[in-house]
Amino acid sequence: MKILGLSFGTRNGNNDTMCRVALEEAQKLGAEIEFIHVFDWDIKYCSGCVACSRGLVMGKGMICSQKDDYAALFDKMAEADGVLVVDPIYESGGSGLFHVVCDRMGPGHDLGMLFMADAKLKEQGKEGLDPKYLRKKAISFVGIGGSDWACRVETDHAMLAMSPSWTVIDNDWFSWSKDVIMQDDKIERMKQIARNLVEAAKDVDNAKWQGKEGACPHCQGNNFYIFPGTTHCVCELCGLEGTLEVVNGAFKFKFDPADEHKAHDTISGKKLHGDDIFRNEGRLMNLNKDPEFKARKMHYTAVCAPTPSPSK
Ligand SMILES: Cc1cc2nc3c(=O)[nH]c(=O)nc-3n(C[C@H](O)[C@H](O)[C@H](O)COP(=O)(O)O)c2cc1C
Repeated sequence: MKILGLSFGTRNGNNDTMCRVALEEAQKLGAEIEFIHVFDWDIKYCSGCVACSRGLVMGKGMICSQKDDYAALFDKMAEADGVLVVDPIYESGGSGLFHVVCDRMGPGHDLGMLFMADAKLKEQGKEGLDPKYLRKKAISFVGIGGSDWACRVETDHAMLAMSPSWTVIDNDWFSWSKDVIMQDDKIERMKQIARNLVEAAKDVDNAKWQGKEGACPHCQGNNFYIFPGTTHCVCELCGLEGTLEVVNGAFKFKFDPADEHKAHDTISGKKLHGDDIFRNEGRLMNLNKDPEFKARKMHYTAVCAPTPSPSK
């Protein structure tokens, strides 16, 4: 049983240290461990070319136009039974590098798309995707902050698990943690997170959320977008729509149970989203031949040219 720790902090800084605290605990429990300091790896931005989703839909398998270490990083995650992400809190949310990894996970590693691609490859008489890409996985997140600005970090982090539909076991963050190596309560919590992840990774089919109950009963999310001037809101994590109501002194998110199949982390929700996208892409397919479209493109392109980078 293998636990992979990913740290997005500076070399041997607080994030690396807390990741190693957890990995040491996991090793004591018999897990094989591996640690990646993500800044050491060559991870480029998502270029937005959508070759990944196109490749999956057309039965070409998993492809990406960026030539870097992301595919190897994803393989490392896919081969581990449990993944622990430790990430510095930047601007109250996940770090920039974490967001890049999240974008790269994006549509090209969406479990619904992967299942579709697997079927398509087999339909063509080819070998399907490696089963390691389709299996369940336990993942936990920890954000480390130098102050107490952190209110978006939980949702940012859990977003990485949305695309591959991995099971989130813990999702925590520590504020005022520049000296976290000296804070025994946080070190103990980190060890508990490791123990929970190891247990979950042993029996991932039955693994469950171990953190505090969140306001959203579907995904445990605590961040909501409120449509201005209404009581209507959407859970920023799973995308279900409903209202926030006070139940036993705490906000609880209420949605119509008939809508739960639309949640973004379910295969049914992914299929709905995929179908919507295909319909829309179909509508756009011939737009490049449309004279009005070509005229508008030409008009706005001529308005101004982009300033070149001073360094490239
Ligand atoms: C660009 C930047 C933004 C930051 N924003 C926040 C923040 O919003 N909230 C917070 O608690 N700490 C913030 N910090 C502090 C970092 O979380 C802290 O430096 C980091 O956890 C240290 O990790 P390391 O020792 O592993 O590099 C910020 C730091 C940087 C560099």
